Amino acid sequence: MNKKLIIALTIVAGMMVTTTAQAGGKCPQPRKTKSAPANIAKLAIPGGADAAVGKTLYQKSAKPMACKMCHGAKGDGNGKLGKALKPNPRNFTCQDTMADVSPGQMFWIIKNGSKGTGMTAHGKSLSDKDIWNVIKYVRTDFLKE
Ligand code: HEC
Repeated sequence: MNKKLIIALTIVAGMMVTTTAQAGGKCPQPRKTKSAPANIAKLAIPGGADAAVGKTLYQKSAKPMACKMCHGAKGDGNGKLGKALKPNPRNFTCQDTMADVSPGQMFWIIKNGSKGTGMTAHGKSLSDKDIWNVIKYVRTDFLKE
């Protein structure tokens, strides 16, 4: 192969790496959020949880704000508002970080919020059932469990 071609290929490969890095949030990602009480953290997603209902809440209708505004339509933490937040919203597609975030942990934080971060409490606007529906959606579509 001639030199110019090798240089050109190297540049293209470099650009591809940069694009991939920008497509998702950081991974692994630092976490500011405290742990849920042990008995809550070990809760499993109830059998009847419905990912399709969760999807609508996540992408559109959750109050005070749809989750995607911060966590991103793809769940990577890069939502419109999320980029400006410190710490950044959780990147649900990051298996490394999500290994420490159980369904019960998610339930507790979605319900009560995470002090000192942009993650607000949704316990007044979402029923427990709807919180589980959202968790089912996030873990099925983004975490790909
Ligand atoms: C205003 C922006 C914002 C909105 C809206 C928002 N979040 Fe968050 N979320 C955050 C931030 C910031 C964090 C904290 C990240 C950290 O711990 O470092 C967070 C953390 C979390 C965590 C904590 C996981 C852990 O590490 O323990 C879960 C789960 C979560 N969000 C789910 C949701 C769901 C589901 C919705 C919609 C119902 C939602 N969030 C709406 C910004 C937001």
